[in-house]
Amino acid sequence: MKQFTSVHDVTDINALVTEALALKKDPYAFQHLGKNKTIGLVFLNPSLRTRMSTQKAALNLGMNAMVLNIDKEGWALELQDGAIMNGTTVEHVREAAAVLGQYVDFLGVRSFPGLKDREEDYSETIFNKFVEYCGVPVVSLESATRHPLQSLADLITITELKKVEQPKVVLTWAPHIKALPQAVPNSFAEWMCHADVDFVITHPEGYALSEEFTKNATITHNQQEALAGADFVYVKNWSAYEPYGEMPGSHEDWMLTNQMLEATNDAKVMHCLPVRRNLELSDEILDGPHSVVIHEAGNRVWAAQAVLKQLLESI
Ligand code: CP
Repeated sequence: MKQFTSVHDVTDINALVTEALALKKDPYAFQHLGKNKTIGLVFLNPSLRTRMSTQKAALNLGMNAMVLNIDKEGWALELQDGAIMNGTTVEHVREAAAVLGQYVDFLGVRSFPGLKDREEDYSETIFNKFVEYCGVPVVSLESATRHPLQSLADLITITELKKVEQPKVVLTWAPHIKALPQAVPNSFAEWMCHADVDFVITHPEGYALSEEFTKNATITHNQQEALAGADFVYVKNWSAYEPYGEMPGSHEDWMLTNQMLEATNDAKVMHCLPVRRNLELSDEILDGPHSVVIHEAGNRVWAAQAVLKQLLESI
């Protein structure tokens, strides 16, 4: 593996999941691989899970991990090429990324979308500037359109907990008060379309994801119909792809309850977290037997460790 920015960087997703589960059983078996190697983790946006799990994964492999919350601790970054920097920005991303690449062997980058200009977000303008200028292999810690470490952890969780060979996995839209990115559902859909699952997406009208990510999925606006017989229900809010970044309807009745889960095959309920209780997901589900959200977050370590191991083996 030369970089990890999407499922397309992975040769065999089943082999990667198997590798992650082996690392979960024996976390320190490859400490020699990371000796004298360093990963830099650069955040332009907040994080709890991605930051801590990737650091932990690096430590398990004997690597050093350095974190920079560049939005708060770095110089104000200029992202536009050709800018006359006579305003508030102090350092251009061309120098910042190139300098970071002098200090580390791998660079992790988190860069959320602005949700204003679809073309700019979907061309991954900011993330790709780090890829272009840092000169070392890059790991996505969530970009404008994808969150592959989360999706790998989700696939690991489904593989561990499934009771049938080809489980039914339903991605359901959930209500929110803020317009959120499409990165998590895009990425989850993209990975599920490559996995051995029966994959269904359900959302209210107006919340269709880009077809780039949902090619082999069944898509329905009928949530209850989608939930019937589900083995896993993945809950997530997202804003519209068209009109971009908008929220065409609040649909509070889409928040999952125990009663709605009665039609499922005793489904496990997943969410990437953070989750807004009683807005996106009810207390009764989060605190009840269906929820596997903490288990899922725990698997972020093994997802990151499997990816870092393959990157270390490639240099
Ligand atoms: N799920 C996830 O990426 O969590 P953080 O935003 O806290 O890293």
